[in-house]
Amino acid sequence: MPLLTRILSPDDEGIVSAAALLRAGHLVAIPTETVYGLAADATSAPSVAAVFAAKGRPSFNPLICHYADAQAASAHVAFSPLAGRLAGAFWPGPLTLVLPRLAGCPVDARAGAGLPTLAVRVPAHPVARDLLAVCGFPLAAPSANLSGGVSPTNAAHVLADLDGRIAAVLDGGPCTVGLESTVVDLSGERPLLLRPGGIPVEAIEACIGRMARGHTPGTAPASPGLLAAHYAPALPLRLDAEIVGKDEALLAFGPALPAALTFNLSPSGDLAEAAARLFAGLRWLDAEGARRGLRGIAAMPIPNAGFGEAISDRLRRASAGSP
Ligand code: TXA
Ligand code: MG
Repeated sequence: MPLLTRILSPDDEGIVSAAALLRAGHLVAIPTETVYGLAADATSAPSVAAVFAAKGRPSFNPLICHYADAQAASAHVAFSPLAGRLAGAFWPGPLTLVLPRLAGCPVDARAGAGLPTLAVRVPAHPVARDLLAVCGFPLAAPSANLSGGVSPTNAAHVLADLDGRIAAVLDGGPCTVGLESTVVDLSGERPLLLRPGGIPVEAIEACIGRMARGHTPGTAPASPGLLAAHYAPALPLRLDAEIVGKDEALLAFGPALPAALTFNLSPSGDLAEAAARLFAGLRWLDAEGARRGLRGIAAMPIPNAGFGEAISDRLRRASAGSP
């Protein structure tokens, strides 16, 4: 039977209600500065299992654990000097560190897909921080969308995917960053960039030097969630468009090409603005394009520096299943 999904306001009463639901083992979607997360008590095996079930997420794809501060995280994973430097520079904020689990780490093994490492992050959103402080336990939280779909950057996006499947959404307004956290694996010999995201790679490399990238072709992916096809709208997505077909909607950046239906990420060509609007734009074009009988979405080229690297990464994955 579907649940009635409550909408909680981001005040003390809403935060206390969200914490009580989480403590009782329920799932609550929460705002972060990057995207909305589908949160559960990370130390509770049934709650963690419910996250995978609600999203339809494969069990081999591990979840990020969110903490109130770096001290709380350092009780569960082994911080290296580089990890300490990155946490000092970028936490709270859109950076996730993959570190070795400490013996006795109470986070449910299935939250980390049984891996010896755990992905940890301290979010910057004030509502998420207040909630974590009230809870007193870490929150396992993947993006609050159905597996493989577009990440949610407001409460309405969450409800479009998960209404009736989760106990509540804590409505903290639109996410300011709009792209998921940058994921850096510090558990091996060299720092490895697993996912570009809300902290530009250049800023991280200015702090710790050059990182290796992705995973070596021919080996298992270092980050099981980094599947080629992800973030996918229902309409096929075509990249680096220079003209737009009559039956296509346009995802524009800068001065827009002529098109029947356009969502402009940033008319002035501002990459931070484009990042914040990317997922809302994809969702809107997908729904409105289908309603008007269009057959696909064409995306204009995005420069590959700063937030552009993460935007291009998401667009590539969103188009991976398209013909
Ligand atoms: O900004 C964000 O990171 C958002 C908000 C809610 O915090 N969360 C998010 O979670 O994007 P999710 O589950 O959509 O993406 C987590 C990524 C996946 O690619 C997953 O494979 C990777 O982090 N990951 C998690 N634990 C890992 C681990 N132990 N080793 C390698 N990769 C890991
Ligand atoms: Mg996700």
